[in-house]
Amino acid sequence: MRSVSIIGTGSHLPDRVLTNADLEKMVDTNDEWIVSRTGIRERHIASEDEASSDLAVRAGEKAIAAAGINKDEIDLIIVATVTPDTMFPATACLVQDRLGIPQAATFDLSAACTGFLYGIATASQFIATGMYTHALVIGVECLSKIVNWDDRDTCVLFGDGAGAAVLGPVETGGFQSFELGADGAGSNLLSLPAGGSRLPASPLTVEKQLHTLHMAGREVFKFAVRVMESATDAVLEKAGLKREDIDFLVPHQANIRIIESAAKRLGLSRDTFIVNLDRYGNMSSASIPIALDEAVRSGRIQVGDQLVLVGFGGGLTWGACVLQWTMEGGAD
Ligand code: COA
Repeated sequence: MRSVSIIGTGSHLPDRVLTNADLEKMVDTNDEWIVSRTGIRERHIASEDEASSDLAVRAGEKAIAAAGINKDEIDLIIVATVTPDTMFPATACLVQDRLGIPQAATFDLSAACTGFLYGIATASQFIATGMYTHALVIGVECLSKIVNWDDRDTCVLFGDGAGAAVLGPVETGGFQSFELGADGAGSNLLSLPAGGSRLPASPLTVEKQLHTLHMAGREVFKFAVRVMESATDAVLEKAGLKREDIDFLVPHQANIRIIESAAKRLGLSRDTFIVNLDRYGNMSSASIPIALDEAVRSGRIQVGDQLVLVGFGGGLTWGACVLQWTMEGGAD
């Protein structure tokens, strides 16, 4: 089996910024509550005519440029999203067409906030076996399009964005281990109830706001803290590493209190964690690749660093990997 790594990263955020002060004018909330309960200060919001594929294409272009390969060397495109442009065709097909990569196999992957981890785990298998050489994995969301903007419990938490990674074979380093998991018994804790074959769109589903995101916040919080610890320990054990071997942990960016609780349980310093949720909120599958891209471009992550990426979310799903970084950073 070949060793596989991330050889290029990219990200794209929509221009419009929605601050906590803006939200104070929309629902009964305030900056102090949002910051103290979540750590979020602002988030980016797609415009009316912007869809997930628009953000994904921009992030994908940057990741391909950072990888230094030609787009005709990409064999596979996976788009992880819960906010596809349409139920079908797959958003990955739209991205493939817009990027001009007709030779690539393409598909969407639905694993909510764990989507990017499921995506890189899947893509890396194709490369490790030799079936493909390069894959583009994009986590993208326009969560603003499925949020109920009258519901203060949820609308303050989410944002829009896209993060991308090109995967390819490497001599040494790269992915050391993966852990993927799911607990379908918790599927009702985080969902978009209508618009599928269970509850097709009807005047009633629209009236009842069933085309918007529904979440049981406290239950998801407890689940998140638990699996961040267990999934991290599982990938470390598979890679033959200890907690203290981690240089950086790139967590899903849902809530600063989830990250702080996990840091405490893992006995890791807060500096080990790459955090950007104050500026973006929770962007589901886009959160981890955007945080990774920023840390690479700023030069914070260096060649040889041992990274753990860990995600959790709707499904319920979780995933983690150990990745020994192989790509020169500091592009910005
Ligand atoms: N502004 C002001 N008050 C708010 C509010 C808001 N935006 N949202 C909720 N509240 C109120 C609630 O109505 C409640 O009031 P009450 O006590 O009078 O009923 C109070 O704040 C506390 O609500 P609670 O749900 O206990 O808050 P919490 O500390 O659990 O924080 C979340 C709520 C959603 C921030 C937290 O549960 C969370 O982050 N959960 C995980 C969510 C998540 O990350 N999901 C995605 C995972 S991928």
